[in-house]
Amino acid sequence: MAEPKTADLMDKIVSLCKRRGFIFQSSEIYGGINGFWDYGPLGVELRKNIRDCWWNDMVRRRDDVVGLESSIIMHPKVWEASGHVGGFTDPMVDCKVSKQRFRADQIFFSAVVVDGKPVGYVTVLESERIAEELQEKAETFKRKKAIQGKLDPVQPRDFTEAKAEEIPLIPSPATGEPGSLTPPRAFNMMFETYVGALRDESAVAYLRPETAQGMFADFKAVLDTGRVKVPFGIAQIGKSFRNEITPRNFIFRSREFEQMEMEYFIADDDDWAKWHRYWIDWCRDWLVSVGIPASALSEYNHPKEKLAFYSKGTTDLMFKYPFGVQELWGIAARGDYDLTQHGKASGQPMEYFDDVKKRRYVPHVIEPAVGVDRILLAILCSAYCEDQAPDEKGKMETRVVLKLHPRVAPIKVAVFPLLKNKPELVKKALEVRDLLRPHMTVFYDEAGAIGRRYRRQDEAGTPFGVTIDFDTLGEKGPELADTVTLRERDTMKQERIKISELVPRLVEKVR
Ligand code: GAP
Repeated sequence: MAEPKTADLMDKIVSLCKRRGFIFQSSEIYGGINGFWDYGPLGVELRKNIRDCWWNDMVRRRDDVVGLESSIIMHPKVWEASGHVGGFTDPMVDCKVSKQRFRADQIFFSAVVVDGKPVGYVTVLESERIAEELQEKAETFKRKKAIQGKLDPVQPRDFTEAKAEEIPLIPSPATGEPGSLTPPRAFNMMFETYVGALRDESAVAYLRPETAQGMFADFKAVLDTGRVKVPFGIAQIGKSFRNEITPRNFIFRSREFEQMEMEYFIADDDDWAKWHRYWIDWCRDWLVSVGIPASALSEYNHPKEKLAFYSKGTTDLMFKYPFGVQELWGIAARGDYDLTQHGKASGQPMEYFDDVKKRRYVPHVIEPAVGVDRILLAILCSAYCEDQAPDEKGKMETRVVLKLHPRVAPIKVAVFPLLKNKPELVKKALEVRDLLRPHMTVFYDEAGAIGRRYRRQDEAGTPFGVTIDFDTLGEKGPELADTVTLRERDTMKQERIKISELVPRLVEKVR
């Protein structure tokens, strides 16, 4: 199987998503709006399947996790107590010439040092090859300025590490010239709005930047009504909003996205590291169960010195996206910070009473937090394949196929009458469609040559195709009557199977 080069892969996925109706740029007819995306007919099904798989596995199939749907706009004090009003910031840098805005931690620079003496600076934006790109730029810089001597290896740093005296000397990534970058400034990423008729300070509210605070703010309400006992979790799926400085990489970093978060409350004297490990493993296994290969996943442990003071440890499950290895799922051990903060700020202690040990305490929390859109992108990247298949005339051509796991595939089975102008075939095909429809998503397609119809479904990621032909009608003898061809997307193998066997066979594979 030919694997597309990683540099092309993103372009191919974006183009397939548009062509097949998975994902469109939001408001495209008005030129689009940066950082916002729309999910088309296939995308919305894929997304829903991801959410449903997570909800079933995380909530419905467990005794120790309950669900919640909290409001997107909450009391502004929630965000003061959580620290978001004061500290949910990214360091931002403006280029005064190009008017472009960058995240400081995504600009990398190095001094160009010749014979031990600094002679200038070079800059690149974050990529897989930061050091190599800086070295290439340093070599070009030395050549263009005709500087003699030995070039030292570059020492990449990000812009947050730039000293005040270095900032005017560092070239802007937009213009390539020094002197136009501002020092980094903290930029709060929360979207503000107003609640009620007044538009003054007292009416300011925020679109939530994470779903997690809903679980903390409702902790008491769930505890008092949910018949839950520590250890237990509260899970939520919902939209979150962040005014990202540089939304990028398609749906990877957007301004409106959906999160699936779960707060798992454990006793203050419980072994947090054991639970942390348990949830990291759970998340990894879950990703594999929806079709992400374990080989594309890795773990990144946040260094102790970069953790928030209350954090005991954070591990990110990383996925090998075509644009680099990036965070997919964060699993954080947050101690009792959030509940304590809300207890203090609201005046209502967020405590749990252990009626066996007869003691009261604020539970600690382990938080697996993931974005639906990032999982969806990882699934698409894992599923995209190109191979060779014969066309109508038997000539080999490149076939684009999305090898989506049947659990998440938007359409589970496509039903085709061999010819659309044969009413008996059409009638039988519609009967098969109606037989399958109560059990799974079915797509009926009678338009065009059968090979083209297969290709369309391959690109949509439909794992099975059922073709109704003249044998089905019994024209080649009674033994083949009421049998159909079942085609498997990945192997393209076809087998003859009785219509009565379709439902049990397919249900087993798609659930
Ligand atoms: N409550 C913790 C929290 O929100 P986070 O690391 O900021 O932690 C959790 O976000 C997950 O949400 C990330 O691992 C990622 O999957 C997703 N996510 C965060 N920001 C995102 C964005 N701008 N676009 C898409 N997904 C995002």
